[in-house]
Amino acid sequence: MPWWKSAVIYQIYPRSFCDSNGDGIGDIPGIISKLDYLAWLGVDAVWLSPFYPSPMTDFGYDIVDYTNVDPVFGTIDDFDRLLIEAHKRDIRVLIDWVPNHTSDQHPWFLESRSNRKSPKREWYIWYDPASDGGPPNSWLSRFGHGKSAWTWDAQTRQYYLHSFSPWQPDLNWDNPHVVEAMHKTLRFWLNRGADGFRIDSIPQLSKPEVAVPVGQLAGDEHGLVKKRPTVYDHLRGIRRVLETYRDRVAVGEVTVRDQSKLVEYLNSADGLHLAHNFVLMHQPWGAANFRRTVDELESLIKADAWPCWFLNNHDQSRVASRYDSHGRGAARARVAALTLLTLRGTPFLYQGEELGLTDVFVPEELATDLNGRDPQRAPIPWGPPSQAGPGAGFTSCQAPWLPISPGAEQLNAKSQAEDLHSILCLYRDILEMRRRSPALRLGRYESQETNPEVFGYIRSYGEERLLIISNFSNRRIERPLTDPSSIGRASIVLSTAGNLSRDVDVAGLALGPEEGIVLRLR
Ligand code: NOJ
Repeated sequence: MPWWKSAVIYQIYPRSFCDSNGDGIGDIPGIISKLDYLAWLGVDAVWLSPFYPSPMTDFGYDIVDYTNVDPVFGTIDDFDRLLIEAHKRDIRVLIDWVPNHTSDQHPWFLESRSNRKSPKREWYIWYDPASDGGPPNSWLSRFGHGKSAWTWDAQTRQYYLHSFSPWQPDLNWDNPHVVEAMHKTLRFWLNRGADGFRIDSIPQLSKPEVAVPVGQLAGDEHGLVKKRPTVYDHLRGIRRVLETYRDRVAVGEVTVRDQSKLVEYLNSADGLHLAHNFVLMHQPWGAANFRRTVDELESLIKADAWPCWFLNNHDQSRVASRYDSHGRGAARARVAALTLLTLRGTPFLYQGEELGLTDVFVPEELATDLNGRDPQRAPIPWGPPSQAGPGAGFTSCQAPWLPISPGAEQLNAKSQAEDLHSILCLYRDILEMRRRSPALRLGRYESQETNPEVFGYIRSYGEERLLIISNFSNRRIERPLTDPSSIGRASIVLSTAGNLSRDVDVAGLALGPEEGIVLRLR
């Protein structure tokens, strides 16, 4: 069984994780200093958001050198040390690979834009203007707020394509030299010992015909994936590179909002190993929404393909804020944790999720991101500011690159590790339960008929059968299961409300507001 099927993977956004040198920005030595925390928490792998040399217009998703480390994060030696130290603790390391676009400062693009005859011209996507002198078509950039995905280059008098900002020109994956050069960057990190990649913006890798008049180019809102048959060829090529090494994994950022399209990336044995499921992440709070999404995915995915769930990342409002209607964000975050970590599939956590962090308000004068994503990227509070200082243990600097959460006095890692009822300890307890349970790691999933406010399912493997029932409402629910009589007696293994383990008759079992429990069935 490949390791990543039973793994829990933790996303680190290096700028905001831990700052070792007091410049206000997190770095790789800072990550190394927190590996013991990650081992204590019980994660199996980390995914590092980009640390490559970059002008940082999109904080590292605009790369100028795919085979190095930006000095703000450290050195390549620091990376090697991180790998060694992580592996010592049985933590694998995935890195972020951004194949769709480079920085406009990448030497390839500088050469490409220098003149039309440049050997690198065809490495990017250049087009003549439309007959009215405007962009070749109406494609919109993801970050443009309605602006074109094409930028005019006055010197060579053509437009170049960028699915994201104008500082992130799209590579031309139809050009075999690009494919070869990018595969080489994969091998560079695989040879160093990286355990795999999170691959940025996969559907964008292949483009529809330029004549197709569609709106936003990124995402799947216009059914573009159907018009992008070559994306699967690209994935096959990438997969072949990984397959020449042992035990490596590719998880894709597949931003489609339709699970029947998502599984196209997974259902063939030569595509991605895993793909982040944006359909679940976008669900409004509600047991029926979660159940419908999970049941649908389970019905679409082939037996040997594997689901992959997440609720938070560096691009999305955090769960404790996103689901905060009626002030229930903190309570819902606990139910979300239990759900995420007990579904069938590989869960991804995002740093600070385990602390129940909320989005942090960033005043306009301190805003840094081109697409408004600062609030979910605020630094991790490692200790209470009253003891650790204003940097909350993230930094010794007076002015970290983004403000520390105003909730840091309570929501920090140190205080929560000492409080058995904290959300941090809940995450750790669930991870420990998961590690010991083949049913949770690898077992079947069968959803149950429940009260509409409850999401219930059985996970089973061999003799082990666990029932998970979670109340998504803020009311007590007397009869969570429609037909509890078939189940009989069971023992509570874990509750988000922190109740002690005990034997219960499931027919008489009620769930408190936003309570989720795991029961071991006889
Ligand atoms: C998705 C990444 O998660 C996001 O942060 C980035 O801005 C875009 N891709 C462009 O690379």
